[in-house]
Amino acid sequence: MKLKVGILGATGAAGIEFVRALYNHPWFEIEELYASDKNQGKTLEEACKLDLSGLPQNVKNKSLGSLEIVNHDLDLFCSALPSELAKTIEEKCAKYTPVISTTSAFRYESDVPIMITEVNSKHYKLLQRQKQRGWKGWIAPGPNCTTVGLVMALHPIYKEFGIERVIMSSYQSVSGGGASLIQKWREQRFGALPEISEVEKPLINPALMVADNVLGHIHLEEQKVKKETLKILGNYYSGKKILEDAEFSIDCSCVRVPTYKGHFETVIVQTMKNCSADNLKGLYAMFDDCCRSSFGHLPSSPKETLVVLDRSPEPYYDVNLYGGMATVIGRIEKSNAFSNGLKFQVLSNNTVKGAAKGMIQVAEYLHSIGFLMPK
Ligand SMILES: NC(=O)c1ccc[n+]([C@@H]2O[C@H](COP(=O)([O-])OP(=O)(O)OC[C@H]3O[C@@H](n4cnc5c(N)ncnc54)[C@H](OP(=O)(O)O)[C@@H]3O)[C@@H](O)[C@H]2O)c1
Repeated sequence: MKLKVGILGATGAAGIEFVRALYNHPWFEIEELYASDKNQGKTLEEACKLDLSGLPQNVKNKSLGSLEIVNHDLDLFCSALPSELAKTIEEKCAKYTPVISTTSAFRYESDVPIMITEVNSKHYKLLQRQKQRGWKGWIAPGPNCTTVGLVMALHPIYKEFGIERVIMSSYQSVSGGGASLIQKWREQRFGALPEISEVEKPLINPALMVADNVLGHIHLEEQKVKKETLKILGNYYSGKKILEDAEFSIDCSCVRVPTYKGHFETVIVQTMKNCSADNLKGLYAMFDDCCRSSFGHLPSSPKETLVVLDRSPEPYYDVNLYGGMATVIGRIEKSNAFSNGLKFQVLSNNTVKGAAKGMIQVAEYLHSIGFLMPK
């Protein structure tokens, strides 16, 4: 029997990827879609301004419900709501039903793991502590979309060679800013707006001028990446039921660039034990074997999890590799910035692995071990 799923925020950039990941899923089926009240009763096709190509008509015809009356008979909620709203709605759902989430609403609480299947699936044990909140369900969030690519690349290094410090710079696409930023970028890029004169430029909200610009500040992004990386790579202690952060220095600089999809990152790492570029390529080449031996092959897992290239990964060409679930790594070289220094580039699909399908993979893992079952 398939698990019945409700998607919260189904019309958004992350929500629509939940719909894509689930409409033909072997273990889960979409029962309810929810969006804001202005779209209540409309079909997905009428309400959603994003690309719906490839989705079958019966899915596009599904009507949108209101968050005021969520269906507590469902087996799972997938949340892709704005974080402030997610605080109340996810809690309301978790009182009766498990929730997987792309939002930051609960990420930093001590009884909440931040899950990436290939990296820290065992942290799911912390979810049991949420029973003390009086919930029948639980909330399992994934990381911020920028953290995902970084941690996927760091995890094998951390396990095998140890890490002293990490410095990352991101070049993040507009889809990371949600449906309204995508809409703005489209209008600006494809000329729905007339060319902007020097006189008009100061009148435009700088946070929304995305097509021909670099936005040097993304609200709270750098704090999230630093905090989340250490939590995800941390250790879970079963006896005390606590999670302790990994200990290394990390800093980053996060920037929005005018690409549509995919977060590109340059990373410099100082390892504890010396690791050559070839050592690292060898480590990445073995990664899928390690994943298979710890949790088998899940329906949403890519054929190749870490794809290593001899060139730079490029969002335009590489962002949808293995359906957007692969982390693409290129230009692995020694760095002379530090002793034991390495540098490389990473590309991760922010709405797929970095959000919805990455979290469906987490739900698949939890189902495969019997932790997430039909009610
Ligand atoms: N975009 C990414 O790459 C990405 C990656 C990882 C995590 N995330 C996280 O995922 C969440 C969603 O992000 P997004 O980029 O998908 O945002 P988005 O495109 O703006 O979508 C937001 C969704 O929430 C709904 N919503 C907004 N206000 C609402 C309200 N008052 N009541 C009910 N529903 C409401 C919207 O419905 P309407 O269409 O009806 O307004 C829409 O379905 C955020 O917490 C974000 O931080 C996003």
